[in-house]
Amino acid sequence: MDHSGAETASIAYKAFTFDDKKNTQESLSVSIPEVLDPQYGMYVWPCAVVLAQYLWTHREELRGRTVLELGAGVSLPGVVAARCGAQVILSDSADSPLCLENCRRSCEANGLPDVQVLGLTWGDVSPDLVLLPELDFILGSDVFYEPRDFEDVLVTVAFLLRKNPRAQFWTTYQERSSDWSIQPLLHRWSLSCVDVQLHSFDAEKSELAGSTLPGRHTVHMMIITLNTEDVGL
Ligand SMILES: C[S@@+](CC[C@H](N)C(=O)[O-])C[C@H]1O[C@@H](n2cnc3c(N)ncnc32)[C@H](O)[C@@H]1O
Repeated sequence: MDHSGAETASIAYKAFTFDDKKNTQESLSVSIPEVLDPQYGMYVWPCAVVLAQYLWTHREELRGRTVLELGAGVSLPGVVAARCGAQVILSDSADSPLCLENCRRSCEANGLPDVQVLGLTWGDVSPDLVLLPELDFILGSDVFYEPRDFEDVLVTVAFLLRKNPRAQFWTTYQERSSDWSIQPLLHRWSLSCVDVQLHSFDAEKSELAGSTLPGRHTVHMMIITLNTEDVGL
């Protein structure tokens, strides 16, 4: 991994190490390149560390499964899923080539040449979305940060879950306003949501994977599935 040179002058590599000292001596270290740029998708967000911790603690379920990450940005969860043996597809907005470049850079930094990177814009039923392979899990870390986009995110998720009724959407949400809620939208799109307590996967800490990013932020982990009976499946 070459971290030098003019091209990488504004890139800083952040290391994350996940371990499992209670049960096994296994650990996983990944390195995520962050770019000095004001766009949202250039940094690892607190939600990403929490979702990555969830993936790490569920690594047995991921091996050999197909996983799509939405709004991946610098893709910490997607990289962890791939390093845990999942077949991963990373995506970010088709209108954000720099974010897509970040996805590719994160894969390069972690020796993941087989991870596919696609431009998928929430709410847009594009040929790339329609042509995705069968999915087992969909990931989204901090994709509910702009209320005007909430329904577009869920339209994409609902579309994918109708094609893959047994798949699950694993998502982390940072509480920024107590007025925001996705409940009515979940109902409209025939989706159910279960909250996963952070302590159940050792994530109720201000420091995770050697990173202080979670800090005092309030992050929720949710599993969203399709109400198959409501949609006649
Ligand atoms: C707050 S950042 C979170 C990035 C990353 N998931 C994380 O947690 O570190 C939100 C991400 O959503 C992406 N995004 C924003 N609008 C989008 C859209 N309409 N379609 C797809 N991705 C979008 C941004 O480019 C950015 O990467």
